[in-house]
Amino acid sequence: MRVLLDLERCQGHNRCYAIAPEVFDVDDYGMAVLLHDGVVPDGLHDKAALAIANCPEFAISIADSSADSSADSSAGAAGE
Ligand code: F3S
Repeated sequence: MRVLLDLERCQGHNRCYAIAPEVFDVDDYGMAVLLHDGVVPDGLHDKAALAIANCPEFAISIADSSADSSADSSAGAAGE
């Protein structure tokens, strides 16, 4: 599971950090920061989902679930 953060929507409510401090941090301006590059560690998926549901700005979303936790970066960005 991986989460995405839209900093243009984040207004610093910090509910994400309060609910799942293992997944979210807060910067010096009170805005959310994703830990672990947004990859949610096993066992914290429910907490991350709760944080997503509790963000009043809808600033957090779930990334493509097919990405799973296996970091297979075989997708090259080469275009011809
Ligand atoms: Fe921002 Fe929402 Fe968290 S507004 S600080 S992402 S609860």
